[in-house]
Amino acid sequence: MLVEQFRVESPNVQYGEDAISSTYAYQHTDVERSEADGSWVVRPRVENYEFRTDTRVPKLGVMLVGWGGNNGTTVTGGILANKHGITWMTKDGLKKPNYFGSLTHAATVRVGNYRGEEIHVPFSSLLPMVHPNDFVLGGWDISGMNLADAMERAQVLDFELQKQLVPLMRDMVPLPGIYDPSFIAANQAERADNVIKGSKAQQMETVRQQIRQFKQDQGVDKVIVLWTANTERYSEVIEGLNDTSDNLMKSIEKDEAEVSPSTLYATACVLEGVPFINGSPQNTFVPGLIDLAVQHNVLIGGDDFKSGQTKMKSVLVDFLVGAGIKPTSIVSYNHLGNNDGMNLSAPQTFRSKEISKSNVVDDMVQSNSILYGPGEHPDHVVVIKYVPYVADSKRAMDEYTSEIFLGGRNTIVMHNTCEDSLLAAPIIMDLVILAELVTRIQLKKDGQEQLRGFHPVAVLLSYLTKAPLVPSGTPVVNALAKQRAMLENVFRACVGLPPENNMMLEFKC
Ligand SMILES: NC(=O)c1ccc[n+]([C@@H]2O[C@H](COP(=O)([O-])OP(=O)(O)OC[C@H]3O[C@@H](n4cnc5c(N)ncnc54)[C@H](O)[C@@H]3O)[C@@H](O)[C@H]2O)c1
Repeated sequence: MLVEQFRVESPNVQYGEDAISSTYAYQHTDVERSEADGSWVVRPRVENYEFRTDTRVPKLGVMLVGWGGNNGTTVTGGILANKHGITWMTKDGLKKPNYFGSLTHAATVRVGNYRGEEIHVPFSSLLPMVHPNDFVLGGWDISGMNLADAMERAQVLDFELQKQLVPLMRDMVPLPGIYDPSFIAANQAERADNVIKGSKAQQMETVRQQIRQFKQDQGVDKVIVLWTANTERYSEVIEGLNDTSDNLMKSIEKDEAEVSPSTLYATACVLEGVPFINGSPQNTFVPGLIDLAVQHNVLIGGDDFKSGQTKMKSVLVDFLVGAGIKPTSIVSYNHLGNNDGMNLSAPQTFRSKEISKSNVVDDMVQSNSILYGPGEHPDHVVVIKYVPYVADSKRAMDEYTSEIFLGGRNTIVMHNTCEDSLLAAPIIMDLVILAELVTRIQLKKDGQEQLRGFHPVAVLLSYLTKAPLVPSGTPVVNALAKQRAMLENVFRACVGLPPENNMMLEFKC
């Protein structure tokens, strides 16, 4: 049963006027190895945490880099359709707008059992969060096409829906963006008619001014910037160039060619105190940028939206390895025909995507050395081809071969038709909503004097990204169920609820 609203009654939580405060006894373990005999000791321990969540939901500006692309126009059209309750006819009948595919606005959380019935609440009712209908949208695109024409170019939304959205999107025009042809495929040059001129330092300064102007014009309390522009090639990470924040800033001043547009936008955001999320696979977050974000304590998160094939992989491999089955070969083919696919047909930008997709099974493989010997790893190959005819309807085909009992072999073949932008758009909204919420949570553990925010590298967004960015020394978790549990359980702790541990002991004696 779904319950829309609930209140937690517990000595662990207090609802104030502007904040929810909670305490939480976190149970975890210390693992040690005896120097004397090499034996392993695992010691459970409890640490008390205090959380404080500011419950004032801001008026939020959302600036998309690549606003006029397939994802940008789908996010915009989708939100407007929901906000204005637009319905449209298709050959399958009347369609109504929804937010399916959004963790925050179409998923639920179990809170307990009432007289034998499981009680769930909307994910969005756990903590106060911005509703996508209230986003104030804006952004940049190197193509100056207005959003209505760009929506038509994208070929994503049903025609009858597009017709009704045109009057609402015609006057939305992206700001000029930073264009550097050496970072994206040459086939994108044709659409680059809306670009910021000048040196890298001047381009970055222009972006800073554009953000300030947007804030002022729209009267928003906060802004979040999200990169959904074309995949760039990797930037080289070079000592003295972008390895520290100082070197990065000097390189921008010196107009060094190897500083990418995405790193320039991200640097501008950090300097403006504006969170920046990277939805593409390139290494926007070079070490110098991470360093800068930590110094300025500004949230950064990424990389690469996890919408289709990788999402399936992070579920399936977790299941196989967790079941004691040994995946030995994972082969993934994709073909797609949208502008993203055309950009990825260049070897350097494809390489970024290949890297972001390649590490996704590592933590699961490393978790089970009963199956895998030292250094052993499944063969893992990813192929992406550009096939214009399929447009935004990406096809992902996967073959998982595994070793089973007594030398047997199990092969799973999957065909996944991923309407790319319709899968990505709710993820983009979730990334923005969760990033904003995370900036309102403070915590401290036993012995710490002051509450402070989470580390600026936003690990809590991992559920939504393919190659989760984590602070150095933090384990990377790719398994989807664990990523969701992390997010849900942290939010539960913020309202004094225990983590969902699935023990259900209350039904066992
Ligand atoms: N399911 C998905 O759609 C999905 C999943 C994971 C990652 N991604 C990534 O999201 C990104 C966007 O995908 P899309 O399908 O919307 O692509 P798209 O090509 O339709 O849109 C990208 C837009 O970015 C603009 N652009 C390029 N460089 C720019 C710059 N420096 N500044 C401002 N604008 C710039 C382009 O003109 C274009 O309008 C791609 O990098 C893609 O790999 C998409």
